[in-house]
Amino acid sequence: MDKIIIKGGKSLHGTVRLSGAKNAALPAIAASILTGGAHQLQGIPKLKDIQTIKLIMSKLGVSFQEQGTDLAINTDDINEYEASYDLVRTMRASILLLGPLLARLGRAKISMPGGCAIGARPVNLHLKALAMMGVDMHLDHGYINAQTKRLKGADIFFDIPTVTGTENIMMAAVKADGRTVLKNAAREPEIGNLADMLRNMGAQIQGDGSDTIIIEGVNDLYPARQSIIPDRIEAGTFMIASAMTRGDIMIEGCRPDHLSAVIEKLKAVGAKINIFDHGLVIKGPDRLHSVDIKTMPFPGFPTDLQAQFMALMCIADGSSIIKETIFENRFIHVSELKRMGADIAINGNQALVRGQDRLLAAPVMATDLRASASLILAGLVAVDGRTEVSRIYHLDRGYEALEEKFRALGADIRREKV
Ligand code: EPU
Repeated sequence: MDKIIIKGGKSLHGTVRLSGAKNAALPAIAASILTGGAHQLQGIPKLKDIQTIKLIMSKLGVSFQEQGTDLAINTDDINEYEASYDLVRTMRASILLLGPLLARLGRAKISMPGGCAIGARPVNLHLKALAMMGVDMHLDHGYINAQTKRLKGADIFFDIPTVTGTENIMMAAVKADGRTVLKNAAREPEIGNLADMLRNMGAQIQGDGSDTIIIEGVNDLYPARQSIIPDRIEAGTFMIASAMTRGDIMIEGCRPDHLSAVIEKLKAVGAKINIFDHGLVIKGPDRLHSVDIKTMPFPGFPTDLQAQFMALMCIADGSSIIKETIFENRFIHVSELKRMGADIAINGNQALVRGQDRLLAAPVMATDLRASASLILAGLVAVDGRTEVSRIYHLDRGYEALEEKFRALGADIRREKV
């Protein structure tokens, strides 16, 4: 298992180019199942989760050809409809195959995702919506066994705006009979990227980006060409790194419209942010102010940046309240940050962070993807020795070459193969 080793204290300077967004690439790859033919995706990041979805889909008969960040996908021969426990347990987003498989074959058997480190993460809303669209489902030895003669459009209200739930049902609805209306739909930019791809394939979709998405089913779809949006969570991670290290970083390819809540909070912290056509520049202040955050569905502050923002608050002047409203157990990084000298008290879904003058280098353990990034950020400013972050396989699921990108910005950071 690899480790990341960091000697903190370097200010970060230079330009970083963002990779494509993991959470946009995964549904785009899944959507290629909807119709046979040769699909072309651009801007696919090199990540473990992308390898996992490709592996699952290759077992269904899909073939892939990679060239740089381009991915050619051929979905002519889908001869299987099962995603096994072995693979699904390593990546919950495998549930994204349910909608496309039902739309293409009328059958799907997908291992039911269990909970994960950050919460129980049920998929009941995906299943309830599919049942309304005429899918028969039963739980069969841990598998969702689903079939339908014909998907039909339905009026669906999500009790909670669910990102992969909205994506799954959009993919099921594009070829269903009639109109599907999704109310209280998620509004994340990744939903818009998927809607663009589906429209390029011939689907009729309106309203993505709002909380009501309307989809008219069509009979025929065509192979897709689609670019993946830049990763807003990776962008936010670099922005926070610049704020923490008194850095001066140009983040190329960044979409400020995807980061409004984060930009506003980082300005309140004291960072100077200048927006350009091709990205933004963020300069860290001499003194960081404490700021409260509350995670919310888009356009609110993203839960996927909560752990990283907490690392920043650990060294800010004053106290900050961080409220996590999306996942019930997303404070697992707290005990590791405390090992580095952070002063954090948790009460239910709120953390009170009292800023310290400094963090101290320590061996720490990554517990999930975004927690890993938070510990690396803490390591970038920690003094008195080396921070060693172990269990880094979590990081590799969702950040492409993070340590290399930080090193290019001047950080003293390296990966050690263990
Ligand atoms: N929920 C239900 N029932 C459902 C679906 C969701 O109760 O059927 C609840 C969840 O338990 C959670 C809330 O609704 O409390 C929102 O969950 P959502 O379904 O939106 O999360 P997700 O689709 O499973 C995606 C991202 C996550 C990101 C969340 C929230 C992908 C592949 N994953 O997950 O990304 O945190 O949306 O924005 O898009 C990450 O990249 O590190 C990551 C965890």
